[in-house]
Amino acid sequence: MAAIDTENNRGLWSSKIGFVLAAAGSAVGLGNIWKYPSVVAENGGAAFLLVYILACFLVGFPVMIAELTIGRRTGRNPVGAFKALAGDKKIFGLIGAWGIICGVMILSFYLVVAGWTLGYVFEEIAFFVGYTGAVTVLKDVTLGWKNALFALLFLASTILIIKGGVSGGIERANKIMMPALLVIILTMIVYVMFQDGAMEGLKVYLYPDFSKINPQLVFAAMGQAFFSLSLGMGALITYGSYLSKKQNLPEAAAYVTLSDLGVAFFAGLLIIPAMYVASNSGIQIFTENGKLIASTRLVFDVLPALFHNMGTGLGVFFGVVFFVLLGMAALTSTISLLEVPVSYVIDEWGLSRTKAALTVGAVVAVLTTIVAFDINWIDRLSLIFNDIGLPLGGLMICIFLGWFWKTESALLEIKEGFEGLDSSKFRTLWPIFITYICPVLIAVVFGITIFNLF
Ligand code: TRP
Repeated sequence: MAAIDTENNRGLWSSKIGFVLAAAGSAVGLGNIWKYPSVVAENGGAAFLLVYILACFLVGFPVMIAELTIGRRTGRNPVGAFKALAGDKKIFGLIGAWGIICGVMILSFYLVVAGWTLGYVFEEIAFFVGYTGAVTVLKDVTLGWKNALFALLFLASTILIIKGGVSGGIERANKIMMPALLVIILTMIVYVMFQDGAMEGLKVYLYPDFSKINPQLVFAAMGQAFFSLSLGMGALITYGSYLSKKQNLPEAAAYVTLSDLGVAFFAGLLIIPAMYVASNSGIQIFTENGKLIASTRLVFDVLPALFHNMGTGLGVFFGVVFFVLLGMAALTSTISLLEVPVSYVIDEWGLSRTKAALTVGAVVAVLTTIVAFDINWIDRLSLIFNDIGLPLGGLMICIFLGWFWKTESALLEIKEGFEGLDSSKFRTLWPIFITYICPVLIAVVFGITIFNLF
């Protein structure tokens, strides 16, 4: 049952599994299927995968628990949450404010890519009926008005769902969609493995060449882990604020981390070999200096080629289903990105949920239109607000929790819903991670990256 508290416009997740699905829905999105394969390709395959897994477990997972705990303890948006816990040190509200800025900026480029998934649904159909003119237009990712149209359409759908509140809108969509997406990816993997060239790609993806590990790779892995797990900007503080005390937070975080990592792993297992298959049929996948191409449009070039290789009827069927599901996965992520500034506006400015969604939506609409007309902004915004912004947010969350609010206070909150906490290893390990290991790892990665720039 949807439980929207109409008095203060705050909702509650209606069930334990509903929350895990919503948080997993926030995590699983374009980050897994669009961004991840291209960072893998850019950073030498299996070596990246290895570092990425470490980043998810050593940094992502502990930080996720931190965000959920802060959210549930305070029941507030990120700005309000830090203010509530910091007492007279109002300056900590800035961590939340930075998160909200990152969220709005990430959403602005995310919507353009999400719009592409929508465009490709129509592209596949146009391909099937033989409208080559429409295919050309829909495939052109640099076409400003087309990008803007689809991105704004996507934004409108997100606003519509957000207006319905957390429980009604967000929970339901996830239940069927995510398993369906996984099934289609697995089916495609099986198909790809039988094509010429696939084994070469498989080797690149699974056989690590440790000499490829360098500061740039580690920096990319860290940014990708935060992005893919929806961390560092308070999305999970916000989702945690709708959480009941019955939920076991570390357990929920483990489910979310594992499912997100799982989907990314399989997306890579599909797309890296598919690149080599595509290369066999003449599509260029290497740059002049022999590196794998990792442009923003990688997935959108390689996958349709693969679908069409399957034969028109079957291929188009797979193409349409795939892009519809990818669009839905992106939708559960844009919902979480938009929910953060919206919950801020509701809590702190006292606007109704509808007005808040429309106000924030208007700002995002302007920004996303700018990106739609010049897609070079995708890489620029992604570098600043994702690769730098999110780990920076994570660093501040760790410092705040470990050194000011204190892990002991957080553990009191975690204990609710986690009966065996006191006798668990988690109780000893998590505070060490949040206070020392995570902040040091993030700071070292930043330090080395900055050092390398000069
Ligand atoms: N994790 C999502 C993806 O992989 C994107 C996303 C949704 C996100 N909400 C977020 C990223 C909050 C950072 C913060 O597609």
